[in-house]
Amino acid sequence: MASLQVTSRRVYRRTDNHTPGAPKVELFTEALPPIAPDAVVIKVYAVSLNYRDANIANGGNPWPVTSHGIPCSDAAGEVVAVGKMVKGLVLGDRVAPILDTKNITGRESTRSWLAADEDGVLADYLVFEEEKVCKLPVNLSWAGASIIPCAGVTAWMALKGVGIGKTVLIQGTGGVSMIALKLARAAGLRVILSSSSDKKLEKISASFSTPPLSMVNYAKNPAWEEDVLRLTTGMGVDLVIENGGTESLVKSMKCTRRGGIISQVGYLGRQDPQELAEFLPLLIDRRVTLRGINVGSKHDMEDLCAALSATQLDFSDIIDSVYSFDKAEEAIEYIWQGKQVGKIVIRL
Ligand SMILES: NC(=O)c1ccc[n+]([C@@H]2O[C@H](COP(=O)([O-])OP(=O)(O)OC[C@H]3O[C@@H](n4cnc5c(N)ncnc54)[C@H](OP(=O)(O)O)[C@@H]3O)[C@@H](O)[C@H]2O)c1
Repeated sequence: MASLQVTSRRVYRRTDNHTPGAPKVELFTEALPPIAPDAVVIKVYAVSLNYRDANIANGGNPWPVTSHGIPCSDAAGEVVAVGKMVKGLVLGDRVAPILDTKNITGRESTRSWLAADEDGVLADYLVFEEEKVCKLPVNLSWAGASIIPCAGVTAWMALKGVGIGKTVLIQGTGGVSMIALKLARAAGLRVILSSSSDKKLEKISASFSTPPLSMVNYAKNPAWEEDVLRLTTGMGVDLVIENGGTESLVKSMKCTRRGGIISQVGYLGRQDPQELAEFLPLLIDRRVTLRGINVGSKHDMEDLCAALSATQLDFSDIIDSVYSFDKAEEAIEYIWQGKQVGKIVIRL
């Protein structure tokens, strides 16, 4: 181990007080975790937030969560110390921990999620085994790189299976959706973007004006799937990035072309199984492939990073706002209220 002066770290932990208005995180100074011979120490420069972080902090997560754990899963930083058995990383490498630390190849049967099954990354220093860390593209800013592990890999996996010239419906203007928009544009896909807000749609269409975006307001028109069909001359889209869940799934199937793909990413709408009455007949009639997305493996993240390096994509235009480390509470509340267009980042 190269000598490291740092022995303690600043770290946020969840309060687990789910009362509206009560603080959701608290700042501590703690000893740096033990550094195993196959581990690296990462100095964190940016942490990005996901809806999941606000949901867990407010007690809404449907999966188990350790009590008073460290929140957040997406960090970007620099390797500042390496254990003596570390082979693939060196001091100065730009890296991020992977979100599911058991998911290296995609074939593992177990899981361990940051900020749920184990501590997350909202701290100024992290210690991770080398195997659980992925190198980041060098062209991205720290803020841009921090959006890769969860939202980035999810968008990447959700877009698989369609190529240049195909049409994708992206639902909502949150983090996953805006990264999907960037990746879809880079891959030569036509994008139809839906939102509950004309204001958000106007803002995004101004930033993504060439070629013009097709847009649908799902809140104004409850039969928004008909708008999507009109925009695709009655055929339907090749792929949907589904964020609503049971509230929108059947409608999404109605505006997907025969043989198309639906990537089920989110469950942001009202979840009522009665909404699924038409599910099976539609699945068969439209020969739709319904695909569950659950972020991705380390190998998937490496593929995404290779694509980002090759395209030199820049994410600065989809970062809604940047908060300082001492404003973590406000950042979590902001995303909980759904005010953002794109990503929220905490800078360290
Ligand atoms: N499966 C996975 O691997 C995976 C990974 C990451 C996230 N997720 C899930 O994906 C969803 C989005 O995550 P995120 O981090 O991008 O969230 P986010 O940044 O908080 O974005 C949420 C946005 O989705 C839109 N939305 C809200 N309700 C909707 C509905 N009923 N139908 C369609 N769109 C709706 C809203 O956009 P407008 O205001 O423009 O309408 C909202 O701003 C969440 O459910 C999250 O838990 C899943």
